[in-house]
Amino acid sequence: MKKKVVAYSRVRKPAQEKLTEKFDLRVYPYGTELTDENFKKDLQDAEGYIGLEKNIDDEFLRHAPNLKIVSNVSVGYDNFDMEAITKHGVMATNTPDILNDTVADAIFGLLIATARRIPELDRYVKNGEWTESLPDEKFGIDVHHKTLGIIGAGRIGQVIGKRAHFGFDMDILYHNRSRKPEMEEKLNATYCEQLDDLLEASDYVCLMTPSTPETRHLMSSDQFKKMKKTAIFINGSRGATVDEAALAEALQTGEILAAGLDVFEEEPTSPDNPLLKLDNVVTTPHIGSSTDETEDNMSLLAADNVTAALEGKRPPNLLNEEVWEGKS
Ligand code: DGY
Repeated sequence: MKKKVVAYSRVRKPAQEKLTEKFDLRVYPYGTELTDENFKKDLQDAEGYIGLEKNIDDEFLRHAPNLKIVSNVSVGYDNFDMEAITKHGVMATNTPDILNDTVADAIFGLLIATARRIPELDRYVKNGEWTESLPDEKFGIDVHHKTLGIIGAGRIGQVIGKRAHFGFDMDILYHNRSRKPEMEEKLNATYCEQLDDLLEASDYVCLMTPSTPETRHLMSSDQFKKMKKTAIFINGSRGATVDEAALAEALQTGEILAAGLDVFEEEPTSPDNPLLKLDNVVTTPHIGSSTDETEDNMSLLAADNVTAALEGKRPPNLLNEEVWEGKS
């Protein structure tokens, strides 16, 4: 009998087909809750879980007592309660690296769109308001030759830096737990041990740090006050890293010039979120990795992690080594 695997939310077709060859795959759409009788029943005897956007915590794991692996279709795994997953003896995996360039493209696109006010000016043209020479108050600001501060110089942060350095002649500052000598050498980047030093000197501040208890509200009133009044803030990490109320205030009072946001404290964000009412905010609906090709590749990598685990092999992107060590 084939082992059962439960798929939740955006697990792409090629990955579903691959999993179906070996497993009894049960697919559930985004929004399915533990109160759904079929979902609950399938989780009872599932040995694998693949998905994104669902919190995998003690309650979920108690509904799935036979799980060997929870495979996230995402590099960020702030939706995983790692302590609970490890306590239940379940392997956890994510999808690093294959999305680096795609996320960097999206975040750099957001930065340019915010600086050059592209969404606002798109509306201006489409609304028929372009009836005379463009008024000065519609002008954006330059990106090239400015200073970009990257908070969180992991793999994606570094690829953003590469675009900024080689494509836009920008000076790069970075703040990270550890120094990155290769980034300093290749991108001529300057390490800022103190976050404040980066905030004070940057024209663009790009937040790319993972969401952890330590990075919760890393950017709040004090940090926005440290930024230049002409600076632009970009969030490509997770919503929890930013105090949204403090950001809205900083944008309204002119503490900073503008913000580009791909992520929100609550997702999907409410249409009533005050940030959405501001002209100096450009948003995207958490699309960092959302291209056809990269979403397929992430789902396929997540499927490979499930397959390896259920065939008794170490999944390539294992996050909790101790569970594997306990088994081997
Ligand atoms: C991830 O995979 O964690 C990214 O947020 C995708 O956009």
